[in-house]
Amino acid sequence: MGIERFIKPNLFALGGYAARTSPDTLDGKVEVAAKDIIKLDANENPYGCSPRVNRALAAYPDFSVYPDTMQEELRKELAGYTGIGAEYIVAGSGSNQLIDLIFRLFVGQGDEVMNCAPTFDLYRFDTEMCGGKLVEVVRDSDFAVNVDKVKAAVTDRTRLIVLANPNNPTGTLTSRKDILEMLETGVPVLLDEAYYEFCGETVVPLVERYQNLMVLRTFSKWAGLAGLRIGYGVFHPQIADVLLKLKIPYNVNVAALVAVRESLKDMDYLMARVKAIIDERARLFEELGKLGFLKPFPSSANFIYCAVLKGKASDIWQKLEKKGILVRYFDRPLLRNSIRVSVGKPENTDALIKALKALEKEL
Ligand SMILES: Cc1ncc(COP(=O)(O)O)c(C=O)c1O
Repeated sequence: MGIERFIKPNLFALGGYAARTSPDTLDGKVEVAAKDIIKLDANENPYGCSPRVNRALAAYPDFSVYPDTMQEELRKELAGYTGIGAEYIVAGSGSNQLIDLIFRLFVGQGDEVMNCAPTFDLYRFDTEMCGGKLVEVVRDSDFAVNVDKVKAAVTDRTRLIVLANPNNPTGTLTSRKDILEMLETGVPVLLDEAYYEFCGETVVPLVERYQNLMVLRTFSKWAGLAGLRIGYGVFHPQIADVLLKLKIPYNVNVAALVAVRESLKDMDYLMARVKAIIDERARLFEELGKLGFLKPFPSSANFIYCAVLKGKASDIWQKLEKKGILVRYFDRPLLRNSIRVSVGKPENTDALIKALKALEKEL
């Protein structure tokens, strides 16, 4: 018997969360140099962050000093961006950290978490981590949520309804009307708006009316700060206070604080790039559809989900990877034989479409 007998059995047996690997790990394994890899697998921003962030970080003098653990300046800046009071806001090292914290706050052994599946796999992971039971309300064939099914599945053990809006990996948007119906159940609703800036629809102002609404956002996608890990949530102040007490000290690092400040001073620059991504999304959607062997689904985010109509998604993924183009593939229940492609720069679309046309003959 080894060390594992000391580890909590439910955690030892837990299935992990499959995060993307860094392109550096592919150096020498693909036909191009690591620097030429086109990364369309993790919904990152192809334009990077604001150049103001790079300049401010290079000049920052105090990395040896801890950040403000209560995030006071940061919460004020985010209040300015979101239009809601700072007392509603808590930031995390990526919105992932807040997802983890919220699950720990609401979900205990045997509690039910309602998930609008298929969706972001981290919700399943955190449910299992907390010993909860995942109740999957399956989306319809166009990945729309059936709100009547959600309401019918609520029991006295339901502790959380989770909804990514737009959804990952399908890009589907759920209407405000449907969200209001979920809120009327009184169950805590975790609304993940990681891709808000690519659709412009938000329910943040509703947090003032609904204590049970929690909205998560991130700087990873629209502001190009995925590597610095900075996200935030909007909560009823009572929940915000508990989260501030529960989080680990100094959870948002100084570099992320600087990066948020500079990003918010460079909104015109960043939003012009968001607009370029939205425009490119329309072109990519059309080009993918024209290929004939993929069925792209309309997306309100910075990626497009495609059903594979001919051949195997895993083959497409592997062949593209060999050429240095990274996409995501799925082949599991509710996400059968499909790929997800992040929207890149126009030249990335061109390279992807060219590679897909070349490999079609081999499918
Ligand atoms: C729905 C959703 N929520 C949250 C995240 C994670 O965001 P962050 O980088 O802020 O942890 C992602 C990232 O892919 C996502 O798709």
